[in-house]
Amino acid sequence: MQDALARLRDETLAQIEAAIRLDEIEAARVAVLGRKGSLKQAMRQLKDVAPDERPAMGQLANEVKTAIVEALDARRKLIERAETQATDAAFDITLPGIHRPLGHEHPLRRTEAELREVFARLGFEVAEGPEVELEYYNFEALNIPADHPARDGFDTFYIEGDVVLRSHTSPVQIRVMEQRQPPIRVVVPGRVYRPDTPDATHSPVFHQIEGLVVGEGVTFADLKAVLTMAMRELFGPDTATRFRPSFFPFTEPSAEVDVSYAVNGEKRWLELLGAGMVHPKVFEAVGYDAERYTGFAFGMGIDRVAMLKYGIPDIRLFFENDVRFLEQF
Ligand code: DAH
Repeated sequence: MQDALARLRDETLAQIEAAIRLDEIEAARVAVLGRKGSLKQAMRQLKDVAPDERPAMGQLANEVKTAIVEALDARRKLIERAETQATDAAFDITLPGIHRPLGHEHPLRRTEAELREVFARLGFEVAEGPEVELEYYNFEALNIPADHPARDGFDTFYIEGDVVLRSHTSPVQIRVMEQRQPPIRVVVPGRVYRPDTPDATHSPVFHQIEGLVVGEGVTFADLKAVLTMAMRELFGPDTATRFRPSFFPFTEPSAEVDVSYAVNGEKRWLELLGAGMVHPKVFEAVGYDAERYTGFAFGMGIDRVAMLKYGIPDIRLFFENDVRFLEQF
């Protein structure tokens, strides 16, 4: 009987140790300690044991019972604790996650980045200047005196006194030249302002990218080459450029540059840039020797480029922040 009790104890403890659910604990308890359980059955053999051995056997049976009850209790607590912890975390890893919509680059920013890259490949650095600008940089230093009729074309918002919102990126030409000596090869992307009534092609805020190259022996041929290459990079290898004589106070000679595009195989032209050879008066304003240095400059509307590239019919779409529009890019 001693052996039977020991075996019963060992087997039951191993079974309890292996239980991972509460119902397994309960099943083990009933099987061993229940009214028809294996321990009760073992106890029945007590009457067959020699009377002088009975007390010792009885004590052993009690010890086995206590060991099993304690083991059942300990294992039950452990399983219960594990189960509450799992619920407390309130975290069901099988639930689908919360989808957060991801934004992306605005089409204007993307176009600007593309322009920066194209000009970087042609050896241009990027420079920047303030959007809140002094009249002097926006006008006078660029050879646009207060009484000159060309001033109307660059009219802008006045903050107070001689502080304005820049109406083009050209003032940064002056700021760059004031700070460095030639050779200079920079592009200046940025936001500009004009008191225009909004319509499909006008917005009081829009974007330009300015270019400036200054050195010894820089010619109009260099200007044509750089712009023609840049336009082919932007719009494809078959793109043609057309230079029409024009007027800007800060360049002489000046040109308006058109870019060709095809609609149903038919060639059309779109005016995209102003450009020209830097006016000697501009070099004088920054203290450059106009006899020694020549240079060219250009200015282009980034919004226009983006409209052309993506086929966008109305400039106002860029600034309305309608996600139905923005999601398409
Ligand atoms: N600043 C001119 C504008 O806003 C564009 C321009 C024309 C820039 C000729 C230039 C240039 O640098 O040479 O209309």
